[in-house]
Amino acid sequence: MDKRTPTAINGNFKNKDIISLDQFSPKDLSFLFKVTKKMKAIAVNAKPSDILKGNIVTLVFYEPSSRTFGSFAGAVKQLGGQTIEIQDPQHFSSVSKGETLEDTIRVFEAYCDAIVIRHPVVGTVKQAADAAFFVPIINAGDGIGEHPTQALLDMYTIYEKFGKLDHLTGVMAGDLLNGRTVHSLMRGLSLYKNTTLYLLSPKELQLSREELQDCTKRGLKLIEITSEKDIPKNADFWYWTRVQKERFKAMEAYEKVKNKFVVTEKLVTERAGENTIIMHPLPRVGEIETTVDQDPRAVYLRSQIRNGMYVRMALLALVLGKI
Ligand code: CP
Repeated sequence: MDKRTPTAINGNFKNKDIISLDQFSPKDLSFLFKVTKKMKAIAVNAKPSDILKGNIVTLVFYEPSSRTFGSFAGAVKQLGGQTIEIQDPQHFSSVSKGETLEDTIRVFEAYCDAIVIRHPVVGTVKQAADAAFFVPIINAGDGIGEHPTQALLDMYTIYEKFGKLDHLTGVMAGDLLNGRTVHSLMRGLSLYKNTTLYLLSPKELQLSREELQDCTKRGLKLIEITSEKDIPKNADFWYWTRVQKERFKAMEAYEKVKNKFVVTEKLVTERAGENTIIMHPLPRVGEIETTVDQDPRAVYLRSQIRNGMYVRMALLALVLGKI
């Protein structure tokens, strides 16, 4: 199989690297979500599947992960495939001896049919995709850049709830500067008409001006707010995020901004609507009080977390040409 360069999906997922939400059109997302619904049925009904029988997917994570790693591993196994799992390759692979990223990718592609990679440096997953000759590369998060598969599951969660992805109002809160899930989700939402996003963050963690301009140009209506009091009552979703401690050079700077905005029961009572869903890519470290978990509008430990595996099952099946 020849390597395809990362490019627009354009109705054909087979062998495509998945690097950015920019590769998707609404049509591609609609198709992916149709397949995701089928994958959900496989997982929920514990139906044995052999869609990926004979396939091996390598997971190489240069940064820690619970959800992305676990759900990709679960996705492969739900579909009858197998995984090669390398967490912390800096210590548990020949990366520790100085092997380059390019050589690491070329070695693992000899053993498998797709590689899922997370890396702390923006652009490195694209670099890995350029290095691979034979297998598709999937971005599981590259530094503060993008986390496309998280955005796919976030969008599926919103779509499942509202039956649409246009004419929506959302609140994006927390670390908008460093949060890669935010960057991918905003790219995805910008594909749909009449989306308004209220951006709530400490000044130091505002969306970069470049990103703000770019998303505005794409058609998103962005409103920056500085207080929870400015959260509109009619929001369809809240997308709260963690302040990304690992991106700070000085811990004092982190301490100053962490948990500036916290979802409390009081805030939900005062500012959330009856149908507002409360989302978080997780992990949370105090920015949503655990008492909020019982609220049926809180989906971060319910549909949102489960959808991660279903969307990744669909994506792998499509990229590997099994559907
Ligand atoms: N949402 C997310 O990327 O979580 P992990 O870092 O645990 O994979």
